[in-house]
Amino acid sequence: MEIKTIEEIKDLKGKKVLLRVDFNVPMQDGEIQDDSRITQSLETINYLKDKGASIIIMSHMGRPKGQIIEELRLTKIAKYLSDLIKTPVKKLDSVFNAEVKKEVDSMKDGEIIMLENTRFQPEEKECDPDFAKDLASLGDVFINDAFSAAHRKHASTVGVADYLPAYAGFLMQKEIEALSPIIEEEPIRPLTMIFGGAKIDTKIGVIKNFIDKSDYFLIGGALANTFLAAAGYNVGDSLYEEDKVETAREVMLLSEKHRERFIIPHDVVVASEISENAETAHLPIEDVMDNMKILDIGKWTAEKFNNIIEKSGTVIWNGPLGLCEHKPFQNGTKLVASSLARHNCISIIGGGDTADALKRVNVPAGNYTHISTGGGACLEFLSGEKLPGIEILKK
Ligand code: 3PG
Repeated sequence: MEIKTIEEIKDLKGKKVLLRVDFNVPMQDGEIQDDSRITQSLETINYLKDKGASIIIMSHMGRPKGQIIEELRLTKIAKYLSDLIKTPVKKLDSVFNAEVKKEVDSMKDGEIIMLENTRFQPEEKECDPDFAKDLASLGDVFINDAFSAAHRKHASTVGVADYLPAYAGFLMQKEIEALSPIIEEEPIRPLTMIFGGAKIDTKIGVIKNFIDKSDYFLIGGALANTFLAAAGYNVGDSLYEEDKVETAREVMLLSEKHRERFIIPHDVVVASEISENAETAHLPIEDVMDNMKILDIGKWTAEKFNNIIEKSGTVIWNGPLGLCEHKPFQNGTKLVASSLARHNCISIIGGGDTADALKRVNVPAGNYTHISTGGGACLEFLSGEKLPGIEILKK
C-alpha cells in the first residue's frame, strides 16, 4: 500500500503540524492502565520536535457523545506525555475557538500544544466540514498517527485532510507494514481468530467478514454472552447486547457448516458482583441462573482454546476473555495468553484492552509477533475493509 509518509515532508522547521494521535488509553480511577498508545507515538512526536516543527496534538478519549465530560478531559494525558518527553505540553481546555487559535498562532518552533478531547464537539463524529476547516486552520500540514482510530470517519481523522496535505506518522506506517502481509498473502493455516472484550457493538459485523477466511473462531469476554444468548442459553445478569442477538444467530448459522470451528464457552466463571473480592463459581453454561453475571471463560473452555492454538499457524486475538480489571476474572485470559506465548506461530494481538490485559496477567508483549494499538481498526483492516483514516493518506 503506497501512502504518503512523514519523512516526505520537506522543511518541517517553522511548520505547524496538526498531529492526530489516539491517546484513548485504558484508565481506572483516573490513572493510565496501559500507556502503549502514548509511548508508541513518541517516535513521531520526537521526530517533529527535533526537526523544529511546532506540534498541535489532537486526540479523542472515550465516547462523550459531543458533551463535555470532566473525567474525559486530556489534562492528565498531556502531563503524562510532557513527563515522558521532558518537554512542556500546553494543554488547552477547548478543541477549537478564538482562544485556541490565538494560542496556536503564537507558538514558537518546537513547542507543543494539546487540544481538548475532540469528541467533546458533536461536529467531530459528524465529520462536519466547517469544524474540520477550523481544525485545519491551526496547521500547515496534517499527520495522522492514529491507526487505532483510522476506522472512524471523523473531522480530526479524515475531515481535516480536505484542507491540508496529509501524511502518515511512524506508528501508522508500522501498523500498516505489520498487518498488511496477513491480508496480502495467504496466511499460515490454520488461521484462528480469538474474539473477546466488552466493546461488543462493532465486533459482530467484523466476525461476519472473516467467516470464509478463518478456520477457527474462539469467542470469550462479554461478546460471548451475546452468542450464548443467541444459542438459547440463559446468560443471567451478564452484560450482553440484546439488539445484536439476531445478528449473532445469523453469524452462527453462517458458520454452521463448520460448527465445531465456532466455539463459544461451555463453562464459565460467574459472580453476583464485580469486585476484587467477589465470590466466584465455576459452572457449566447450562447452570447459569438469573442473578449471576458471566465474567470469565471456564477452565475447560480455556483448555479447548489452547488445544486449538497449539495446532494453529496464525492466531489473531482481539479482546480479553474475561473482565481482567479484576483478579478473580483473569484466569481464562492468562491461560490462553500463556499458551499463545509458548506456541511458535504468527500471533497478532489487537486493541488497547487486550494489551492492558496481557500486562495484568504478566505475559510479556515480546512473546508475540505484533501487538497492534488498534482494536476495531485492526480487525477492520485485517478483514480487508478500507479505513477512511488510511484512505486519505494514499498517494
Ligand atoms: C479504540 O479504542 O479502539 C479507538 O480509540 C477508537 O475508539 P472508538 O471505538 O470509541 O471509536
